Amino acid sequence: MCVCCVYICVCVCVCTFSTSLLSYRRPGEPPLVSSWVPFIGKALEFRKDAHKFLEEQRRKYGDVFTVLIAGKYMTFIMDPLLYPNIIKHGRQLDFHKFTQEVVPSTFGYPPVLDEVYPGLWDQIRRSFQLLQGDNLSPLTESMMGNLMLVFRQDHFDQDGGWKTNSMYEFCSSAMFEATFLTIYGKPETGSRHVEMEKLREDFVKFDNVFPLLIAQIPIWLLGQTKAIREKLISYFLPQQMSRWSNMSQFIRRRSELFNQQGQLKDVHKLSSHPLAHHFAILWASVSNTIPATFWAAYYLVKHPEALQVVRQQILDVLRDGGVEFSPNRYTMLSRDQLDKLVFLESSINESLRLSSSSMNIRVAQEDFALRLDAKRSVDVRKGDIIALYPQSMHLDPEIYEDPQTFHFSRFVQDSRGKTDFYKNGQKLKYYLMPFGSGSTICPGRFFAMNEIKQFVCLLLLYFDLQLEDEHKHPSLVSNRAGLGILQPSTDVVLRYRRRAQ
Ligand code: HEM
Repeated sequence: MCVCCVYICVCVCVCTFSTSLLSYRRPGEPPLVSSWVPFIGKALEFRKDAHKFLEEQRRKYGDVFTVLIAGKYMTFIMDPLLYPNIIKHGRQLDFHKFTQEVVPSTFGYPPVLDEVYPGLWDQIRRSFQLLQGDNLSPLTESMMGNLMLVFRQDHFDQDGGWKTNSMYEFCSSAMFEATFLTIYGKPETGSRHVEMEKLREDFVKFDNVFPLLIAQIPIWLLGQTKAIREKLISYFLPQQMSRWSNMSQFIRRRSELFNQQGQLKDVHKLSSHPLAHHFAILWASVSNTIPATFWAAYYLVKHPEALQVVRQQILDVLRDGGVEFSPNRYTMLSRDQLDKLVFLESSINESLRLSSSSMNIRVAQEDFALRLDAKRSVDVRKGDIIALYPQSMHLDPEIYEDPQTFHFSRFVQDSRGKTDFYKNGQKLKYYLMPFGSGSTICPGRFFAMNEIKQFVCLLLLYFDLQLEDEHKHPSLVSNRAGLGILQPSTDVVLRYRRRAQ
């Protein structure tokens, strides 16, 4: 039986009864998209092509409607002009409840409840600041060194001829390893962890079943996944981590927090707690960054005229900083220099716009009237999910002309980042949301943008680049709809050659 069939069987058996009780509507509630399938509701149609499915419902029901998806009543707010009201809504719409419920079981740690671990949840959240602000500079500097190391050792050979490689593999191996070295540090001996390839292989196996785990499919139904997850978690055993040097401040702080709690509450088996948390951070730091890097690099190689402009700006920024680039020398781009690369930033934003499919979820804490704008409100029930699905906004032709096409300079205006995008003649507060929104917005977003920029800079500076088959265009695999950056349906073969002086 395939995993999807298992999923359907489990869902139908467990919850047919409970959801059928809820499917009547009260006056004031948004229209309910009808479905004949108890519990599952529209899950399969959503999973097949979420954007298409939601657009169809919007045409039928308007900008606000409720859908039953895998046992949850989800009210979608489709008009991005209404987003600010939802995002700022604090008291009655909980931001963290959903993640608190599903994330711990996915990564294998107990929920961080205040009753059991007083204050820990807040402290964990405060540690996210160590990925931002002044802390971003050492992280960015370290990432540059690590990417340079991986590029030099794996891709700079002397013969200067054309080579070919899977483009996804190229991006994945370099970003996985360089990010790992930057966040968790270097091994005791040598500059690279010897087991890195094995670790990445196991990681990919886990990541492939991630959409099922987050949908709460029991891990025992998913083949070897439990054993693989345990192996991944055990990579972060304290005796191993204590030997790593150059660990980021972020991970050091988190280790400290868990160690303190461990002394206080060892009865709750906190010994397994930090390891699984470290593993969760590994997942958060690379699972979206790798496909995002692929799409950013792919679109530029596919559009040589854009690549040329982006490359020239990198060379100009280096020159303005007093460095004449030479392919035989080590290159360093500071955080300030990365900030000046507006064409590269725009290209990355454009590829994120085309490939991201995150869903912003809030849970209603009570029955109440949710105010949408000055004139409208809808009634929601306690436990209902309010969802924003920004992909619909990213592909809206009224906001983004020719929305399916990559325009590398779409986010540039007067040599600066463009921030004014309109719907119904009104300026949008939120127009690009690959990293979520509000208080749950991705804390690693600045680091992610910088590391993708760094990777693309090195690729463009050191190599001539071509696609082996220029006519092949991978589409987006929809099985991660709602979870982040979608992966390509097929890989493409990259041809690359060291650039001459
Ligand atoms: C292109 C790359 C990335 C994308 C598209 C991305 C996207 C996201 C999204 C959509 C969320 C959920 C936001 C929400 O619920 O509203 C999230 C959460 C998170 N991300 Fe990222 N992310 C990326 C890279 C990173 C990196 C590099 C790190 C760390 C170094 C990171 C760390 C986290 C963490 C820790 C959370 C959970 C935050 C919480 O519990 O509130 N992410 N990310």
